[in-house]
Amino acid sequence: MVTGQSGIFALGDAAHGFFEFRARPGVDAAALVRAVADLRPPHTTVGGVNLVVGFRPELWRAAAPAEAPAEVTGFNAEVRGADGYAMPASQADVWVWFAAAAYDIVFDLGHATVEELAGVATLVREQTGWSYRHSRDLTGFEDGTENPTLYEAPEIALIADGAPGAGGSVLLFQQWRHDAVAWNALPQPAQEKIIGRTKPESTEFAGDAMPRDSHVARTKVHRGGEELKIFRRNVPYGTVSEHGTLFIGFSAEQGRMQRMLEQMAGADGGPRDALTRFSTPLTGAYYFVPSIQALRCFTTAEEG
Ligand code: HEM
Repeated sequence: MVTGQSGIFALGDAAHGFFEFRARPGVDAAALVRAVADLRPPHTTVGGVNLVVGFRPELWRAAAPAEAPAEVTGFNAEVRGADGYAMPASQADVWVWFAAAAYDIVFDLGHATVEELAGVATLVREQTGWSYRHSRDLTGFEDGTENPTLYEAPEIALIADGAPGAGGSVLLFQQWRHDAVAWNALPQPAQEKIIGRTKPESTEFAGDAMPRDSHVARTKVHRGGEELKIFRRNVPYGTVSEHGTLFIGFSAEQGRMQRMLEQMAGADGGPRDALTRFSTPLTGAYYFVPSIQALRCFTTAEEG
């Protein structure tokens, strides 16, 4: 049986660390994947940690062509909207996510990982995330209301058995800085129109009450009448003076996430997502998150 990396679905951790690495010059793809596959969270089932790793899709394809989905690519060009608006591309080679009950665990493992990978890769970006009022992002709205449940999420996030890359997932990772001063100056009804949901209960606006440029309207993607879902694991980041949302979206298919971005940017001819006037993407990268079995093929470390 092929299984996805379990940390994708491990909800509830309060502390998160995200580490993006670039391969050192001359290091080949398989050597890099081997080094990452040898990373291990502590082998204990209490007080543990969740680890999820991903690779630049082209790099993973070079290392494991038989285990790579067709047509998945890195975030190799910015996403441009009609009015000159652009979401930047900041693709790196490796993505590592540690999630745990407390930040000291994330810190120690992140530190160890940077040292363990030092021979093959250098750290290019590091972010810490934390949970805010259980399930809210730093706009104050609940984030994840429309997410699939954990019963449905694997089918949405993971490539189906039998297909190339089975058990793997395509990750979109973006840092969005909120313009908190402008956002907090808005009255609640104006904020609600921008999101497309009420703030206290997270109730979606019905019918014509939903503004065409709301975030919810702009991130709905349909194919043949069917709504295409993704599985989001967003977390807040930052300090009182500078903060925002780390967008973490998993999907069995890349196209729908790229379409969401294009719709948000107004690149589809529709209106630009009103949320993008109060939040700015600073980074953007896609990573392929292989199945546990595909990753274990590269392990050289002793089990146990
Ligand atoms: C500043 C960055 C972002 C913030 C603060 C944010 C926040 C939210 C909030 C509050 C909701 C409504 C509640 C919910 O269903 O979760 C939502 C919905 C959603 N967001 Fe975002 N989001 C951000 C970026 C993105 C990006 C970059 C994407 C896609 C690439 C995205 C995709 C979605 C989707 C698919 C939904 C559900 C829409 C539906 O109701 O069908 N979001 N987001």
